[in-house]
Amino acid sequence: MVVGVRLVRVRAARCFSWVLQAMVVVLLGVALDRVAMSANLLTGAIDTSAATIEWTFQELLRRPNIIDKAHQELDRAIGKEGWIEEEDFSKLPYIDALIKESFRLHPLCTLLPPHYSTEDGNVAGYDIPKGTTVFVNAWSLGRNSKYWDRAEEFIPERFIENNIDMKGQNFAFLPFGLGRRKCPGYSLGIKVVRTTMAKLLNGFNWKLAGDMRPVDISMEEIYGLSTHPNKPISLIMESRLPLHLY
Ligand code: HEM
Repeated sequence: MVVGVRLVRVRAARCFSWVLQAMVVVLLGVALDRVAMSANLLTGAIDTSAATIEWTFQELLRRPNIIDKAHQELDRAIGKEGWIEEEDFSKLPYIDALIKESFRLHPLCTLLPPHYSTEDGNVAGYDIPKGTTVFVNAWSLGRNSKYWDRAEEFIPERFIENNIDMKGQNFAFLPFGLGRRKCPGYSLGIKVVRTTMAKLLNGFNWKLAGDMRPVDISMEEIYGLSTHPNKPISLIMESRLPLHLY
């Protein structure tokens, strides 16, 4: 009898400890999910915008005439007496176009994360059944001469006076992915990139440091979660607005 009572007690205690362990595991799971989600958001938020700006400068320094055109646009739109503000961006179609051109040639996810087809389809004569894992090569679509004239060249003008979609409707241009898993941070990302690029161009002249020439800039990529230049460049920035504004 005594043994029986002890057994029951031991079972009750074990049962309680299992429940406790299960609760800890569930809570830990929720916490880890949150940590993972926050890490995802941070990576999405910081690295992507920074890498886009890095690539854009890499391209601009190879063609200083594009920087001159951007400066002329800024001077026409807001003059040289103040800093550009976010709401001024609609007056800067050329800078908008050069950012899009940078996204076309340097999508940060060269190969989009895996997607699943939600219905049966046919691509280039191949049947793709519903539920197939699909990897979209955004890099190669952005450089495909079937869709882009002089595809390998950096020509911002191709994005002027046309409204080429960036949010997954134009399959030749997918900097933010497409479908249900497309980038949820699009609005924030594009605002950060536009504002930062516009302010950096508005406030500074840009030159290559040392004896580096535009033709020496390497466009080699290094792959990771997002794609960065393999050989980043050193730049000299000089103020171009009245000094009291800095
Ligand atoms: C220039 C800025 C950005 C670019 C180019 C970019 C690009 C992308 C791309 C290509 C994907 C994959 C989409 C797909 O699989 O179809 C993605 C996913 C994601 N992005 Fe961004 N992103 C940017 C900014 C941001 C920001 C600011 C955030 C958060 C605040 C963010 C959060 C995420 C998250 C959480 C995912 C995963 C979505 C999922 O798998 O369901 N991104 N992003």
